[in-house]
Amino acid sequence: VGSGGVSKAGNNRHVVITAGPTREPLDPVRYLSNHSSGKMGYALAAAALTAGARVSLISGPVELAAPKGATLIQVETAEQMHAAARELAPEADIFIGCAAVADYRLEAPAEHKMKKREDEETLTLTLVKNPDIIAAVAALPTSSRPTLVVGFAAETRDVERYARDKLMRKGLDMIVANDVSQAGLGFGSDVNAAWVLWRTPQGTHSDALPAQPKRQLAATIVHRALDLLVPGET
Ligand code: CTP
Ligand code: CA
Repeated sequence: VGSGGVSKAGNNRHVVITAGPTREPLDPVRYLSNHSSGKMGYALAAAALTAGARVSLISGPVELAAPKGATLIQVETAEQMHAAARELAPEADIFIGCAAVADYRLEAPAEHKMKKREDEETLTLTLVKNPDIIAAVAALPTSSRPTLVVGFAAETRDVERYARDKLMRKGLDMIVANDVSQAGLGFGSDVNAAWVLWRTPQGTHSDALPAQPKRQLAATIVHRALDLLVPGET
C-alpha cells in the first residue's frame, strides 16, 4: 500500500472464485444443468473486492453482472471450469469453490440435434463423472496450491456431518455448508444461513452463521478466510 493508501486485509491478495452452474451439452441445443443462480459466488467476489483483494471470477452461465473490478472468466461446462481453475489456482492465495458443478456430463453428446424416436417410449443417456475441481485444486503440490481452499456444500439433511466429510475428503481448509431444504434459503434466494467448518493444526472447528442476506454472509466468509490466511490481521 502506497502512502495515503488504506491498508485492508485483502490488499495484495488474489482470490479466485468459481460461481454459478455448469452446463453439460446433450446436443447442440440441449443441456443438463441445475438451478444455481450464482448470487452467492458473485456476492463473495464483491466482498473480496471490498476487502481490497484482486478477484478472478470463473463463472458458469448466470443472469448477473460481474462486480466492477473483478476479472470475469466465462465458462459453460465443468471441464472448461476445471481448465480455468487449474490455470488460475497457482497464482491464487485463496480459492473459493462456490459453483454448483454438474457431477456428471454426457459420455457422448450428439453432434446434431437428437431426433425423437417414434418407436421408443424411453431414452437412456449414459453419463460420466466430471472432474472434482476443488479437490484437484486442493491436491496441487504446495508450490502451486492456493494457501487456502474454501468449499461450499449444499445439503438437505445431516448438514454438519456431510460438510465435515467433504472438508476431509476433498482436502479443503474451510467449508461453508447450508441446509437447502429450508424454505426461502439457499438456491436462488437472497438470504442464506450456514455452518462454517475450518481446519487448523489444532483440529476442526465449526461455527453457525444465522440466516442473513447473501451479501452479508459473503463478507463474513471472506473476512474469516482472510483471517485464516493471516491470523490477527482483520
Ligand atoms: N465441486 C467441484 N467440482 C465438482 C463437484 C463439486 O469443485 N465436480 C465443489 C463445489 O463447488 C463445492 C464442493 O465441491 O465447493 C461441494 O460440492 P457438492 O456438490 O456439495 O459435493 P459433491 O462432492 O459433488 O457431493 P454430492 O453432490 O454428492 O453431495
Ligand atoms: Ca455435487
